[in-house]
Amino acid sequence: MNHNDIETRVAQSASELDHAQFVRWFREVAPYVHDFRGNTFIIGFGGELIRDGALNALIHDLSLLSALGIKLVLVHGSRPQVNEQLRLKGYPTQFGRGIEPTSAEALECAKEAAGEIRLDIEAAFSQGLPNTPMSHAQIRIISGNFVTAMPVGIVDGVDYQHAGKVRKMDAAIMRSIIDEGSIVLLSPVGFSPTGEAFNLAMEDLATSAAVALRAEKLIFLTQGPIVCAEDGTVDSELAREDADKLLAGGTLSEDAHSFLSHASLAVKRGVARAHLVPYTLDGSILLETFTHDGVGTMVVENTLDDLRDATIDDVGAIVQLIEPLEKDGTLVPRGRATIEREVENFTVLEHDGVIYGCVALKPYLDEGMAEMACLIVHPEWQGAGEGEMLLRHTEARARAMGVKRLFVLTTRTSHWFMKRGFVQGGVADLPKERQAHYNRSRNSMVFIKRL
Ligand SMILES: CC(C)(COP(=O)(O)OP(=O)(O)OC[C@H]1O[C@@H](n2cnc3c(N)ncnc32)[C@H](O)[C@@H]1OP(=O)(O)O)[C@@H](O)C(=O)NCCC(=O)NCCS
Repeated sequence: MNHNDIETRVAQSASELDHAQFVRWFREVAPYVHDFRGNTFIIGFGGELIRDGALNALIHDLSLLSALGIKLVLVHGSRPQVNEQLRLKGYPTQFGRGIEPTSAEALECAKEAAGEIRLDIEAAFSQGLPNTPMSHAQIRIISGNFVTAMPVGIVDGVDYQHAGKVRKMDAAIMRSIIDEGSIVLLSPVGFSPTGEAFNLAMEDLATSAAVALRAEKLIFLTQGPIVCAEDGTVDSELAREDADKLLAGGTLSEDAHSFLSHASLAVKRGVARAHLVPYTLDGSILLETFTHDGVGTMVVENTLDDLRDATIDDVGAIVQLIEPLEKDGTLVPRGRATIEREVENFTVLEHDGVIYGCVALKPYLDEGMAEMACLIVHPEWQGAGEGEMLLRHTEARARAMGVKRLFVLTTRTSHWFMKRGFVQGGVADLPKERQAHYNRSRNSMVFIKRL
């Protein structure tokens, strides 16, 4: 083969690889596309995102979400722009995070900044040049007097003057706009029934909108990853209770505290999920939405109340759960004695004294691995996220043991695991001891997830 032939072959196989990767990636995303069609997302971001030049990239991603049938409400802040106006006009005041006293001059600056940002956002959504992500996008963005505000008033003797809070929102009109495919844009200025304007905090506004519309997601775009575990990695999921503990701990930065407290409040008031996602990472909103672990921190209502370690008294209930699946071949028969011996590996889901789910975690710590087995949710309770909760709990347990790779052996549930970040491996990838016990006649598939 001459040099040119080799180059052609290399180029061909590279493009075949690209095609294969593209198709695999597109298929992996499909379940999320189905899941989120018709959902309502509230996206809140500070004026910092605009100052840092990240607006266009965000609008490209939002237009894609909109095209996929996700209903969007955008809420922008304007703090750096207001501060800049104040500086230019020679006023000494500078705004920090959250609700702050607002003088008449600062309110004027806030109105100017809101007007300018609103026009910038409308302009960005009006782009449609060929060969750009906005080509063929025809998205209408609509703003209006949807927010009734009230004064913050005097707090601890301090008069907050023109600073306001959300009193109510016209959820019905906002819903009708998003239902017909347009996007609602909310600026951080609201009006009282007397027609007076008030300076609002973006976080308060976004949270109120998410609650009023009973949104599936509230997403705050932040300057960086702000909720990290002790080892410096981003906490990808926090139960609301844990978020509240972190908030009480007093270790968070001012920004992190403000975003996380609003995320927690939103979830407490019925928003399904609240996310903190760094806008500094290009495409972060897509990664957070369409990949299992995302790139930011997700706060969810604490649903872990039903989860607990199994005890020897649970063996009977676990056997009852497992038996039908052993009979139909979904699970490998274990026998009561094995479960009794290994009961400390099990976690169960219990509600009102009924065990309705279980999972086992068997560590192979020499090889930094662990096996997740016997993942079961009783058929009457399936489809409500309990399986996902057992998986997340098992991942957290495994991580705490220092496990780097979690594996499962499955014959019929491969797609469930693939959707949740597991990748197919082979028997040779298993710990040596586990390879020795691999049941070749069952021919189970091996799936592995890096933790
Ligand atoms: C797998 C299992 C634990 C999931 O529990 P669950 O509480 O229903 O899980 P979730 O609610 O988090 O997820 C439900 C989703 O998984 C899907 N799903 C369920 N079983 C699946 C399977 N075998 N393959 C692919 N997807 C599956 C459901 O259709 C549902 O999809 P939707 O959200 O698009 O409607 C449960 O179906 C079960 O107990 N199955 C039998 C035991 C089993 O196969 N265990 C794995 C052994 S390796």
